[in-house]
Amino acid sequence: MNFDQIAEVEKRALIPTYDRLPILAVRGEGCYLYDDRGKKYLDFLGGLAVNALGYAHPEILAVLRDESESLLHVSNLLYHPYQAPLAEKLARLAGLDRVFFANTGTEAIEGAIKLARAYARQRHPAEPCAQVEILAVENSFHGRTLGALAATWPEKYRKPFEPLLPGVKFVRLNDAAHLRQSFTPRVAAVLVEVIQGEGGVVELQENFLKLAEELCRAHDALLVCDEIQCGLGRTGRWFAFQKHGLKPDVVVVAKPLAAGLPLAALIAREEASAAFSPGMHGSTFGGGPLQCRLALKVLEILARPGFLEHVCEVGAYFRAQLEKLRDGLPLIREVRGEGLMVAAELAVPGKSVVRQALEAGFLMNCTQETVLRFLPPLIIERRHVDDLIAALRPILASLSLGERKEVTA
Ligand SMILES: Cc1ncc(COP(=O)(O)O)c(C=O)c1O
Repeated sequence: MNFDQIAEVEKRALIPTYDRLPILAVRGEGCYLYDDRGKKYLDFLGGLAVNALGYAHPEILAVLRDESESLLHVSNLLYHPYQAPLAEKLARLAGLDRVFFANTGTEAIEGAIKLARAYARQRHPAEPCAQVEILAVENSFHGRTLGALAATWPEKYRKPFEPLLPGVKFVRLNDAAHLRQSFTPRVAAVLVEVIQGEGGVVELQENFLKLAEELCRAHDALLVCDEIQCGLGRTGRWFAFQKHGLKPDVVVVAKPLAAGLPLAALIAREEASAAFSPGMHGSTFGGGPLQCRLALKVLEILARPGFLEHVCEVGAYFRAQLEKLRDGLPLIREVRGEGLMVAAELAVPGKSVVRQALEAGFLMNCTQETVLRFLPPLIIERRHVDDLIAALRPILASLSLGERKEVTA
């Protein structure tokens, strides 16, 4: 089937939850994606932060080929060789103790919420329903299942599915006084994205995060860092929380963990982990041999000397180039980000920029209507950034001109 036929069939055969870009992707290599006509796109979307090592990475392909001939799935009723070393590695990296493997980010967040509730219940056996509040932060995104969705800020995502999980309250973004005021003895966990991804690459401030940590410690609640988008090297650190010297009780990772196959990990401190016992939580597919072996390879590559430094260096260059672009184009309101989680907030909607960039052979995405968000493979180089900036300049300049015309008309 060609693109038009596929689009036509999708229109009638799929439940319409996605607004797709008009590309029929057929293969990828390095930082480039190719469509069915052989057109090449430089990828600044990275499969929404999943393709951290780009496409068709030779070492990933080698693991994939080898493991696919051994074991694809065994269930969690048996041991296989890769969960144990992966769990140890993840726990050590996060400064925590134990891991539960799930498949997707939202599922691992769901696990974190369950863990927090079970932990609270264990601490207060006399009042089983006493501590069941979860504090989340305005503008956050934690996923689409009913628990994670309850902690996701945009009303348009939540409203159609109410009633959601009760007891989730939102704290105003970076408002330490509001956090203190909201923190009642009923709070079982505070859930934060250190850098909010879907929210437009917005950083939580250090004093806010430190206060969350302090309050959790004081009240024996869990500080849960959702590192699904900002973790595993994306910001040039293993985890975004490390910038602030935080010591979370639970860390959740997913997206790039298994190089494109679904795998998520809920990483927890010993005392919190003890709230789960056999049978209390589980997953048919979570932590399968292929995914875990791929994840071991991903972590091995990220740990190589110079890898994370490269993310910091190219990320700083990228932001500097966007800042330069902004000097001549006031249409760019602000440039934000850490490492290769970068955003340019525009004064106008960004959808047409994404479409024009696509025509020019660049993939990116727009979130919050006006925020161009860049989540490229972590292997991009300065020359790729230069290519993107050269393509964006005329697109944004023509928008600026259009704007001016509208104003003078
Ligand atoms: C910060 C954050 N949390 C949770 C999720 C949900 O992850 P998934 O789509 O794998 O369920 C996402 C997805 O974009 C995310 O960015």
